[in-house]
Amino acid sequence: TGYFTYDPGFTSTGSCESKITYIDGDEGILLHRGYAIEDLAENCNFLEVCYLLLHGELPSPEQLSTFDKTITYHTMVHEQINYFLRGFRRDAHPMAILCGVTGALSSFYHDSTDIEDPHQRMIASHRLIAKLPTMAAMAYKYSVGQPFMYPRNDLSYAENFLYMTFGVPCEPFKVNPILSRAMDRIFILHADHEQNASTSTVRLAGSSGANPFACIAAGIASLWGPAHGGANEAVLKMLQEIGSKDRIPEFIKRAKDKNDSFRLMGFGHRVYKNFDPRAQVMRKTCHEVLGELGITNDPLLDIAMELERIALEDDYFIEKKLYPNVDFYSGIILKAMGFPTSMFTVLFAVARTVGWIAQWKEMIEDPGQKIGRPRQLYTGATQRKFVPQNERG
Ligand code: CMC
Repeated sequence: TGYFTYDPGFTSTGSCESKITYIDGDEGILLHRGYAIEDLAENCNFLEVCYLLLHGELPSPEQLSTFDKTITYHTMVHEQINYFLRGFRRDAHPMAILCGVTGALSSFYHDSTDIEDPHQRMIASHRLIAKLPTMAAMAYKYSVGQPFMYPRNDLSYAENFLYMTFGVPCEPFKVNPILSRAMDRIFILHADHEQNASTSTVRLAGSSGANPFACIAAGIASLWGPAHGGANEAVLKMLQEIGSKDRIPEFIKRAKDKNDSFRLMGFGHRVYKNFDPRAQVMRKTCHEVLGELGITNDPLLDIAMELERIALEDDYFIEKKLYPNVDFYSGIILKAMGFPTSMFTVLFAVARTVGWIAQWKEMIEDPGQKIGRPRQLYTGATQRKFVPQNERG
């Protein structure tokens, strides 16, 4: 039945053509639609980057204002979703909630499950970008037993998310511009990253014609794992496990030991083998946030900084090109902002939704698109004679 290449992990397989994101892992370059991530993180807000990813160009002021209005128009979720979400256990992981509720959107917005209609594809994209923060904040509120906060459309995307997460009905909410800027930057830095595991999952799910809400739910499931989006949560758990600076050498030793499965979370990347440009912006933001919050001697941060120093000097890490990645710093920032670790990957999912949906749209609109169907190397039994039940054992 023809030849194919055996490529576990798809390390040398190009699965699609794309005009959205370019990465040069050796040079530490990340471009969205040709623009450097450093420039976008410095000069744009998240919705501008969303527009860029979806439409291919940076928006004019008028286009941005219309896009902003469109997204804020869709921020509320169907009231029935409140009840749907309340069916989860209080101790459910918010990623489990997000995955379930996002998939359930397919049953609330029937019109935008019509993937043949370009107008409905765009509405589905807007709905997903707009509603993910609302549902993420609801997952958090549910876990702490506080009332859900309805979105406030007079706030920016990042401000509104912080409001829905940390605001309470009985007190006025004060926006801290440093924190909302940091939130916005975290969203920008996570917005897209070409054909990573979750994006490939979205494309693969979408290649069968599945509706966009189901595809994004599949992306969320894939993102959840600790080798992907779950890494920022794993970084914090690791720092807590290390506990104090004097125990770092013990963990560095374990990370190098071939017989020990322990890895330094937040280090290494499949594509960046020099440095992760997102990590550099994130490092700066991390120090801004800690300065703003007056956190000068957080023990976990001390461990993180020492780990970073050792890993950058140690032969093993240099040789294997294991540099701190974006999740190393984002975990620390999010902790300082007051998010529980279980919310870290949720925030990644909120930000990545635009990347997923832009990639999904690009795939659907590609005339050369085919259903994804990898092959396999079969290593099981050769054909054998059937054994009736009463003759087995
Ligand atoms: N700590 C210690 N050793 C490591 C680490 C690490 N974090 N990462 C890779 N190695 C070693 C690994 O043991 C292997 O050694 P050897 O060649 O002797 O067998 C070598 O480096 C190559 O590792 P690999 O697993 O073949 O590399 P990969 O490209 O398949 O994996 C990775 C990339 C990100 C999954 C991996 O580096 C890792 O598990 N890192 C920790 C988890 C993490 O931070 N993930 C977030 C990735 S960035 C955000 C995102 O895109 O989601």
